[in-house]
Amino acid sequence: MNPSLAQSFPNSRLRRTRQTPWLRNLVAENTLTINDLIWTGFVMEGSALREPIASLPGVARLSIDELVAEAQELKSLGINAMAVFPALDPKIKNATGSEAVNPDNLICRAVSAVKKAVPEMGIICDVALDPFTDHAHDGLLVDGKILNDETVEILCTQALVQVKAGCDIIAPSDMMDGRIGAIRKALDNNGFQDKLILSYAAKYASGFYGPFRDALNNKGSLKGDKKTYQMDAANSDEAIREVAMDINEGADMVMVKPGLPYLDIVSRVKQTFNMPTFVYQVSGEYAMMKAAAANGWIDGERILMETMLCFKRAGADAILTYAAKDVAKLLTKI
Ligand code: PBG
Repeated sequence: MNPSLAQSFPNSRLRRTRQTPWLRNLVAENTLTINDLIWTGFVMEGSALREPIASLPGVARLSIDELVAEAQELKSLGINAMAVFPALDPKIKNATGSEAVNPDNLICRAVSAVKKAVPEMGIICDVALDPFTDHAHDGLLVDGKILNDETVEILCTQALVQVKAGCDIIAPSDMMDGRIGAIRKALDNNGFQDKLILSYAAKYASGFYGPFRDALNNKGSLKGDKKTYQMDAANSDEAIREVAMDINEGADMVMVKPGLPYLDIVSRVKQTFNMPTFVYQVSGEYAMMKAAAANGWIDGERILMETMLCFKRAGADAILTYAAKDVAKLLTKI
C-alpha cells in the first residue's frame, strides 16, 4: 500500500502544512513561471492600429507595427513565445482560402517583421484555412463536405510559406487526418527539418471558440459547424488515438484545446505519452472570466492565476492564453 494511505488523524493533520504562506510555498507541488506562457493574439493590415475586440476585453487586433511593439513589450516582460493569428479583410477571403499560401500574406509579413525586430521571440503560426476562407471552415468545402486529403496538400504549402517567413513552430489546428505527417515531410524535403510542429492534436468542436471567430472577422460567416473534423466533447479515448497518431507522424509537442473544461484530457495525454503537452485557454474561457470580473462577480486576477495553476497541475508544460501579459505582470508582483 502507498504509505501515505496509512496516515490517520490525529497523528496526521493535513492542516499543519497549510498554516502559513512559507509552509504552503514549501509543499507546493506545482508552480507557474513566466516560461510557461505563450502570448496569443491577432494581427491586421494597416499601421498604428489597435482595434479592440468587443468579445475579448483587453485584446485587440494589432497592425504589424503595433505587433512588433507588442513583441518588444513581451520580451521585456520575459514572455518567450507568441501565437499570432491573421484577421483578414473579408474581401480577401474566398472559397479556397487561397491567400493562405501567398508568401507575402499578412501573417507572413507579420512574422518576418517580428523576427527582424525581436529575433529571440519564439513565433507560433496556426496552419488551417479558416482565417482565409469565406465560409470560415478550416478546409476546402465542396458540396457541404470538408475535403481531407486535398486540404492537407494546401496546408503543406501554407506551412512552407510561414516557415520561410521565419515562423519557428508550425501549429496545425485544422484537425484533418494525416496532416502532421504530410507537413513534416514537406518541411523536411525543403530543408526545414529543424522547424517544430505543435499539433492541435486533441481539438474539440467547441462553443468556447465564439469570440475567436469574431476576432478573425468570421462572425456569422461559418456555414454549419466543425463537427465533422473537430472532436466530439463526449470522447476521451479518441483523444488518445489522435495524440498517438500525431506523435507517430512527427509532432514535437501536442496540444489540448479548449483548456479548463478539458483538463481530464490534458492529464490523460500527459500521463500516457510523457510528451511536451500544451493547453490553450481559448477565447470563450477568457471572455467568461473577463465578463464575470467586470461585473464584480468574481475576482478576475485571482481566478486567472488559479486557472493557470490548474493547467500546470493537470500536466500542461505551456499555456496559450490571451491573458499572458496579465499573468506575467501578476507573477512578478510580490
Ligand atoms: C482555427 C482556430 C480556432 C481557434 C484556434 N485556431 C477556431 C476554430 O477552430 O474554430 C480557437 C481559439 C480560441 O477560441 O481562442 N482553426
